[in-house]
Amino acid sequence: MRAAIAEAEVGDDVLDGDPTTRRLEADVARLLGHEAALFFPTGTQANQVALSLLSEPGTEIVVEECAHLTDCEEAAAAALWGVQLRTVKTPDGVMTADLVRERIRQGRFCPRTSAIAVENTHNAAGGKVADLETMAALRQLADSHELPLHIDGARLWNAAHALGCPPERLAQFGTTVMVSFSKGLGCPAGACLVGPESLLERAVAIRRQLGGGMRQSGILAAACLFALEHNLARLGEDHARAQIAARMLEHHAEVTPVPPDTNIVMLDLRTLAADEAARRLAAAGVLVSVFGPRRLRLVTHLCVSEQDVREAAQTIDHVLGEGGS
Ligand SMILES: Cc1ncc(COP(=O)(O)O)c(C=O)c1O
Repeated sequence: MRAAIAEAEVGDDVLDGDPTTRRLEADVARLLGHEAALFFPTGTQANQVALSLLSEPGTEIVVEECAHLTDCEEAAAAALWGVQLRTVKTPDGVMTADLVRERIRQGRFCPRTSAIAVENTHNAAGGKVADLETMAALRQLADSHELPLHIDGARLWNAAHALGCPPERLAQFGTTVMVSFSKGLGCPAGACLVGPESLLERAVAIRRQLGGGMRQSGILAAACLFALEHNLARLGEDHARAQIAARMLEHHAEVTPVPPDTNIVMLDLRTLAADEAARRLAAAGVLVSVFGPRRLRLVTHLCVSEQDVREAAQTIDHVLGEGGS
């Protein structure tokens, strides 16, 4: 990937175009079965541009309660676009059409829903996959209310792999879809937003308002092209390694792994505070994220071998073995 970055053919993407970025955008649009794609430095920026395109100030977007849009984007929908997020409580991170239907509002003496946004896979729910039937039902619901559907597909690649379908099958349900290259695909930065050409033409200006116009963006796009060629097909290895970690810890006295769909394993703690558990594990060489007062997140990715996973699970077993005592 470093070599691909070094050798990238570049231009000026703010002025008259960068050839490597153009190639990536064309490839991603084709791969996801959409008319056009636009490259962004981050998934957050691409998500926010999508919300701007699909909503209007003074309206609501229906989104899952623990989605990245809800919890991790600094209330940007409100701060930037004057839009309120109307959250959906789900038992497992999967927004079904039935749950969403109850949250859509027509705008008589209350705010009007302008869009629906769904995260697939769902990060905070442990890389949970919304399957094709769920996505199709959401799209049908959106259509029946004449609402656009945005897919936060930072890990759409993992969802498609888990479902054994091409990414296009999942992406077809979105009016717009964001995909990220800096998660399991292992790039230093980069995301794309795909959708109809007319929408993405407007997206260029909004991206620029947010400071996302990049000149020799080909050095980043080259990494993303490399990742599509070399790292996409291997995501199943990460999923298999997440299964190994979960299985190795399934009978543990202190931690209960949430059975993983993809490359994320959530560990629920019985007695220990998550901060304290993460501190003990870091001291023993295992880095985990804190995802709640009693929840830790493990992620497998291309820099983590099966041996690493086995060693990490053994360390967790040992270090958290005595729980809070
Ligand atoms: C589901 C989801 N959406 C969007 C993002 C934002 O991506 P970025 O970190 O590139 O802004 C993330 C990042 O973790 C994510 O998990």
